[in-house]
Amino acid sequence: MAASLGGRQNHRDRRTGRSLRLRLAATCLNALLLSGCSGAQSALDPAGRGAERIAALFWWMAGGAAIVWLIVIGLALYALRGRRKPHDRRKTALFIIGGGVAFPTLTLAGLLSYGLAMMPELIAPAPDGSLTIRVSGERWWWRFEYEGPEGSFETANELRLPVDQPVQFILSSPDVIHAFWIPVLGPKIDMIPGRENRLALHPTRTGAFRGVCAEYCGASHALMGFDVFVVQPEAFEDWRRSQLQSARSPEPDTAAAAGERFFLQNGCAACHSVRGTPADGLVGPDLTHLASRKTIGASLLPNEPENLRRFLIDPEGVKPGVVMPHFKMLPDSELDALVAYLASLE
Ligand code: CUA
Repeated sequence: MAASLGGRQNHRDRRTGRSLRLRLAATCLNALLLSGCSGAQSALDPAGRGAERIAALFWWMAGGAAIVWLIVIGLALYALRGRRKPHDRRKTALFIIGGGVAFPTLTLAGLLSYGLAMMPELIAPAPDGSLTIRVSGERWWWRFEYEGPEGSFETANELRLPVDQPVQFILSSPDVIHAFWIPVLGPKIDMIPGRENRLALHPTRTGAFRGVCAEYCGASHALMGFDVFVVQPEAFEDWRRSQLQSARSPEPDTAAAAGERFFLQNGCAACHSVRGTPADGLVGPDLTHLASRKTIGASLLPNEPENLRRFLIDPEGVKPGVVMPHFKMLPDSELDALVAYLASLE
């Protein structure tokens, strides 16, 4: 009696264990599938016209593939379980020609035509007069130059775009090949030294998104991202006007003012520009409005004083292969002042 009760208990435990494992597996699968379909960097969660077309293409392809897979598995099961009887040669030949030649040709031709038909729209340039941004892929960060009737300005690693307006990108690179890709907005395009490639994007909803480099380009390829903020046109205009301004001079006798002096003395100005000061270097990112950016190091670290300090002391440790030299020889007080200056560049 006791043995039989124990046996029943074991059986129930095994059943509970199995259903728990099944539920856990289902939850994991769900999380995996959902996380792949949404987020700031998902091509399946489109926020731009090009990406909407590409996501639709993906779902049609995935749906088509699933139907073909189901048919093939169904036929395989039928063949395994069906009654064995002599084949009718004519029926077999028809089945092979129909299922092996006609069906795949028609299905693939249909999907191919659907895919090709959207190409002209994906590669069409933006209308004349659209917002134009020149992009240069650097090692390993992004140089963005906004062109406009009121003048151009340069920024780095952060794009701001107005919603519901086309944007024309003109892309190149000074040394190695990169690829510019904002998965939520549209297709990607290579950035090739000595050549200008063009890409038009058209954001359809506001939000904070992320772009990446999609072509292996060296040690920090995987650390070469950028932030993309799609905002209302009025907010974009405000931002554009503030970016056109020169940097605000720090208040006299503050840590930031001392930092500006050290910045100009220590050679920072040879590589970085801060508009409105003698710093006009072109090697590294323009720092005129560094403090207005959400991240530093090409979408790598939150833009906070301790991270700015980390970058000054050990840029190679933060981003392997970076061109910037370290400044760990500077006394703490100078580093603090430099960080205060950088943090004041709003
Ligand atoms: Cu730049 Cu990969």
